[in-house]
Amino acid sequence: EKIEAFQQTLLAWYDKDGRDLPWRRDHDPYHVWVSEIMLQQTQVNTVMPYYTRFMDWFPTVNDLANAPEEKLMKAWEGLGYYSRARNLQKAARQIVDDNHGQWPTTVAGLLDLAGIGPYTAGAIASIAFGEPVPAVDGNAFRVFARLLEIDADISKPQTRQLFEQVISTIIPADRPGDFNQAIMDLGSSYMTAKNWDSANSPVSAFDQAFLDGVEDQYPVKTKK
Ligand code: ADE
Repeated sequence: EKIEAFQQTLLAWYDKDGRDLPWRRDHDPYHVWVSEIMLQQTQVNTVMPYYTRFMDWFPTVNDLANAPEEKLMKAWEGLGYYSRARNLQKAARQIVDDNHGQWPTTVAGLLDLAGIGPYTAGAIASIAFGEPVPAVDGNAFRVFARLLEIDADISKPQTRQLFEQVISTIIPADRPGDFNQAIMDLGSSYMTAKNWDSANSPVSAFDQAFLDGVEDQYPVKTKK
């Protein structure tokens, strides 16, 4: 059926053409988490050297929990939004001090950590722990709005729930993390916000907005 064909097409493309990024080499929750926090407000190409140095300086969650403030701020210098770094350390201490070094493995548990919202919790749960949950960021809103011609207004907070529900019915139970990261790659290559190239997208046959020639109308966003 159609959902399965979409999953297979997307994952086959991801296996062949997905980006080889330093945080994708394993599924260690510490690696996934730090990268996702850096990627919240910063582009992939900028994040890469910061991520590599961060792992050099703070190889484990324990090192991060015990890092001197000055060194932590130095590691973040140039990335901006320093509250992200402070929350990273706060969450590292929650894991090390309050949870005996054990990671929460579900979205609900991850949401209790400092600096982790619905997107980041979904990303970590799916990529590191294989939980079949969506990770809805701007990419996912745009990609699914176009694929399915979803015209809900993404500037409304309640629209996230609608997308999460829809994506939950599409996400494959055996590879949720790869699925979510494939959507991110699609959103940064063929299905970008501007100058998209839907005709050459691996999932063009499943892209309703492309088939109807109305990609410019999705996602619907009333406020900026
Ligand atoms: N943006 C946010 N998370 C990402 C990831 N895991 N890979 C690539 N881009 C991302």
